[in-house]
Order: sequence, then structure tokens, then C-alpha cells
Amino acid sequence: MIQVLHGNFLYTPSLGTLETVPDGYLVLQDGRTVGIFSELPERFSDAERTDFKNALILPAFTDLHLHAPQYPMLGMGMDLPLLDWLERYTFRTEARFGDPDYARRIYRELAQKLIENGTTRVAMFSSLHTDATLILMEELENAGVSGYVGKVSMDRNSPDYYTESTEQSKRETLRWLKECERFRTVRPILTPRFTPSCSDGLMRWLGDVAREYDLPVQSHLSENHSEIAWVKELAPSCERYWETYARAGLWKPKTLMAHCVYSDEIERKAMRDYGVTAIHCADSNINIASGTAPVRQMLEEGVHVALGSDIAGGAQINMLEVMQMTIRASKFKRMESGWKTDFLSVAEAFYLGTTAGSSYFGAKPGFGEGEPLHAVVIEEGRLPDADRLTLRERFERAVYLSKPQDIVAVYAEGKRVK
Ligand code: GUN
Ligand code: FE
Repeated sequence: MIQVLHGNFLYTPSLGTLETVPDGYLVLQDGRTVGIFSELPERFSDAERTDFKNALILPAFTDLHLHAPQYPMLGMGMDLPLLDWLERYTFRTEARFGDPDYARRIYRELAQKLIENGTTRVAMFSSLHTDATLILMEELENAGVSGYVGKVSMDRNSPDYYTESTEQSKRETLRWLKECERFRTVRPILTPRFTPSCSDGLMRWLGDVAREYDLPVQSHLSENHSEIAWVKELAPSCERYWETYARAGLWKPKTLMAHCVYSDEIERKAMRDYGVTAIHCADSNINIASGTAPVRQMLEEGVHVALGSDIAGGAQINMLEVMQMTIRASKFKRMESGWKTDFLSVAEAFYLGTTAGSSYFGAKPGFGEGEPLHAVVIEEGRLPDADRLTLRERFERAVYLSKPQDIVAVYAEGKRVK
């Protein structure tokens, strides 16, 4: 089936560039993009048309680091630093997902919230519960959110009510992977929570599984001073945090490492050399006062960077708000550096939250030809003067001011889901 969408198209093909196709036509064949045209070619003139008139049509958002079972604690416990925040709020909240009915209710709501906010692809942490993780994957797939979900592994330094033995962790991981065969657009990703939560034996076993099953990996890296000091105590033979993952075989292309606030030049070089992606979570880093990651420097050094909301360390599920926070954090970093490092522009932050994220899933920049459409349609009707502004100005304003209700349509995997 051929469909045509009409509106103003904007996308960021590379860091810092913004392409616009005003008053254009996007042609879809069975949900896949044929092309974007300034004038609709004659051969498509009879196709079903959806007219978004003067609205902005943008690539949908990618959130490459968030914790699904922390959704119920959004906006709470933010006055604590990371390790206290985990002890006092996070583990207790995640432990509730041992109840499948609770998991079903919360995860259905979360999946819907992601779509309403225009996030269509994710890399997500679940809890350590296999059943709740499968429920999460089902709910995401049903709502139209695709990407990766990980059953969390944690067999040490965790509270009695929320931990697993090494053997149990291995057994449950294998059961989970077997059950994952039934999913199509939501796939498994191995997820050691972070080095303090995983014994050396479990880490190495996960490294073997990653290789045998050809699975991607996600975890946390160099987020907070106390965490880094703890890792140093736990793994004295590792010069740097990243080596605790590398020695287990978990440091490889398709590995996602959240935060990297304190990754120094050598750790950043290891990311670049091995093709590990740094997931920048500005809102979370500021909320729990972890620090501000050197994103501009990482980009200049050739590290692949994408954005994460990191809910519930981050309090915003809406990736436009995460982009705003990314820009503000980068400006703070600039001031802190004595105005030496550059900040991130709106188009650059947008690139990190769309193109950089979707490339992790193998997608081309923007609305890639032959690929299933992932797009959001924004109508900023409640804001004044759209007619007098350039598309670039409207784009900037949309990044700063759009609310979920302004996202009037969302396409995911080629289907309209909002
Ligand atoms: N490090 C280990 N677990 C977590 C978590 O749940 N959130 C964040 N931000 N950092 C972590
Ligand atoms: Fe996190």
C-alpha cells in the first residue's frame, strides 16, 4: 500500500547539520520510506494522503538508557547521591516487579507514555525478574516501541529482598533468552547492572553468553565518585572502571555504557577503539548530582554518543526535555571550563537523540529510504506567530517548548501508533 504524508520535514543527517524539506511529501510503501519530495511525483497522486498541513515532521526519538521498573518512582529521592538513592529508593521500587500483575499494569502505562512522547526505539533495563521482563517486552511490542530490553543481572552487594545467586542468575538468564525467541521487534540485551552488583564469575559468564549468542550488552560506567572508588576496591587489578567489563568480554561493538561522566582520555579512547557507545544522561547526572559528562570532548575524539533519559535518575521521559537538558549541561560545562569547550547546539542535541540513537539499530540518518518510518508530527498551534518564523526557528522552539499534546501523530516501524 502506498501512503503519502504532507508537511514540513526536518532531520539531522550529521552532527550539527539540519536538513529541511518545507511543504514536502513523504511517500511510504507498506510503511517503508520511498523518499521525500518537494513536489509529489505524478505516479503517487492517487495514493492515500495524510495532510499534516503546516506541522513539523521529525524523526522519532531514541532513548538508549532508561530503567522501566523505576517508572513508579519518577521525581522522587532526588536529594540523594547515587549509591544512597539505589539503597533507599531504587532497589525497593524494582523489587515490586516480582508481582506480574503489578508489572503488567505499570509496563502497559510506561509503553503508552513512551509512544505519547514520541519515543519509538529504546535500550532499556528491566528488573532482575524474568517474568516481569517478558511482560515488559510484550507491552512494548504491543504499543509499537522497538529496540532492546535487558533482564538485569545482580548477584552481589544487593539487598536480601532484591538479589539472585550466581546460579539462579545464570539459569534465569537462559530461560529469559529462550522465551525471547517469540519477540520480533523487541530483542534481548545482556545487562549486568554495574560492576558492584555483579561477581567476577557472573560477569565472565555473561561475556561468554554475549559471544555465543551474539548479543549486545548494556551497563553503567564512571557515573559518580563513590561508585568509581568502590569499583577500584572491588577490582584492584583494573586500572580503570572500563577494564572490569573488558576483562569479562563485555567491551565490544554494540556495548552501551551509560553516563561516562568521569571517563578520562584513556577510558574514552577505549570506547572509541572498541566501538562502545557512551549514553549521555544529562538530566539524571544533574538530578542526583553525579557531574556533567564531557560530551563535546567525546564527540571531538570520535566516541559514538547517544542520549538516554535514565528514568528515574532522570525525571523526564520526554526526549525533547532530555535534549534541552543536554544543551544546558553542555553550556554549564563550557562555563566551568572557562569558556574553552564548546556547548551543543539545538541541532546537535537533536542529532544525538535521533540519528545517533537510531544508527545503533542500524538505521540510516533521517527518513532512510527503504526503512520503516519512525516519525513524530508536532503542531505548535498553541505557540504564537508560526507563520512569521523560519522552519529552523520553529524547530528550535519545538525542541524547547513542545508538550506531549503537541505531538499529534507518531509512526513506529512504519505504522501510525498515535
Ligand atoms: N548504577 C547502578 N544502577 C543504577 C541505576 O539504576 N541508575 C543509575 N543512574 N545508575 C546506576
Ligand atoms: Fe541508569
